[in-house]
Amino acid sequence: MRPLFLAMLAGLAATPAAAAVLPATVAALAPASGTLVLPLSKAGDLAAVGASLDPAARDAVARALAAAAFDYKARSSLSLRGIGPYDRLLVIGLGATAPTAVDLRTLGGIAAREAGKDKAVALVATQLPAGAAADVALGYRLGSYSFDVYKKPERPVTRAPLTVVGGGDPDAAAALADAVVFARDLVAEPANIVYPESFVDRTRAAFAGVAGVRIEVLDVAAMEKLGMGAILSVGKGSVHPPRLLVVEYKGAGAPARPIVLPGKGITFDSGGISLKGGNGMWRMKNDMAGAAAVVGSVLALARGRAPVNVVAIAALAENMPDGGASRPGDVVRAMNGKTIEIISTDAEGRLVLADALAYAEKRYDPAAIVDVATLTGAVGGALGNEYAGLFSRHDALAEQLLAAGRATGEELWRLPLHANHLEDIKSDYADIRNSTEGNQPGASHGAAFIGHFADAATPWAHLDIAATALSSEATPTVPKGAVGYGVQLLDRFVRDFKAVN
Ligand code: BES
Ligand code: ZN
Ligand code: MN
Repeated sequence: MRPLFLAMLAGLAATPAAAAVLPATVAALAPASGTLVLPLSKAGDLAAVGASLDPAARDAVARALAAAAFDYKARSSLSLRGIGPYDRLLVIGLGATAPTAVDLRTLGGIAAREAGKDKAVALVATQLPAGAAADVALGYRLGSYSFDVYKKPERPVTRAPLTVVGGGDPDAAAALADAVVFARDLVAEPANIVYPESFVDRTRAAFAGVAGVRIEVLDVAAMEKLGMGAILSVGKGSVHPPRLLVVEYKGAGAPARPIVLPGKGITFDSGGISLKGGNGMWRMKNDMAGAAAVVGSVLALARGRAPVNVVAIAALAENMPDGGASRPGDVVRAMNGKTIEIISTDAEGRLVLADALAYAEKRYDPAAIVDVATLTGAVGGALGNEYAGLFSRHDALAEQLLAAGRATGEELWRLPLHANHLEDIKSDYADIRNSTEGNQPGASHGAAFIGHFADAATPWAHLDIAATALSSEATPTVPKGAVGYGVQLLDRFVRDFKAVN
């Protein structure tokens, strides 16, 4: 029994999990059957979608909307059955103002949720802004996502692919949808399935055949040779050896200097010898969400053939309390020669990122470095799960990240990074220490530590996604659980990037 079970798990590990993303199709006219979704901002819009609806059905919908006193507010919906040839007519309110990209994604997500298990779903987009189909289809796909690889076959909710009528190419954002799903799956997978080597395998599988991509993987021997004592120290307590996974994408015609995106990839964070308490420790399987976000965004950009140069560096290790594990008080040396006193082995994310940033600086000439990490509990205390924390010494870079957050709904809030935050983490025994003790600005100290490994002249920012990587309740486009936070944000940021400094 047991060997078979293990073989099954091994099989699962080798297969990039979860449902391939639903395809979307485009149609000139709505099918006169199945579920038809009608997004409306006012009663008069019914005439605009009229070409897609037979006249008798249109009059029936108008009467139903009036009788229900439908308010046309964003997210309001009305499900009508028994009209014309349709199984269901689903009216979704759009609100009075012109819908943004985020609104259109939300609309698609609501359509996915409301249509449930309906067999065929078409949405009329002729009355929406030009190009709306891509965002609506993206939202529909994200709203359709659920992670059920380990559930009995009857549990998964399978949703019909969406047909979009008008509004341009619904597949324009398909690469982005796939990339968010890739990141969600990695975050949702348990740590017995996703560990540094299997994270690498899944990444290779996802990028197979994608043009312009080069993947480089540093194993323990390679990292020893480069003197990466910080990431190596984190991996020492686990049976799963650490890896530095580098995914380069060169888009045609892009300027030479890449944007480099290091991501924290702790596939499980037990705290190490500074062991965490048991409550909620299972959540620490998501401590690689930063790595999933950076690799996912490069997947979206590369598959979408964006004209950009970008590099994801996933700093992968498992933080476990073995006899070989680091102790509090140990001193290690990072790749750039700086020594680090380990005050807490539970402040491990900044250790793996120290070497990832040093590698980024040495190997590339980055136009900017943006690291992404589930770094501190403290960031959630400050911002809850509405915003991820943004830290930077470069205002022009911070502004671009804030703008990308607003454009995608993956919002950021800037938190302080004071010169004294670096002073606070000076060590009596080494160049720097990885944490302080007592009641301290922990998220800023984490940022100050990481920033110490970027050159002062390099535009650098740090995103602390500890409180946004997992959602406690579903929204139209995000399921309960793994959010895939940062993929859409970084995709937007890199596409819109204007050189700073
Ligand atoms: N992975 C945790 C941070 C975290 C906490 C992520 C809660 C998601 C939810 C990180 O490695 C950690 O343990 N941080 C410590 C830092 C401290 C030891 C300086 C923390 O936040 O307590
Ligand atoms: Zn951690
Ligand atoms: Mn930790």
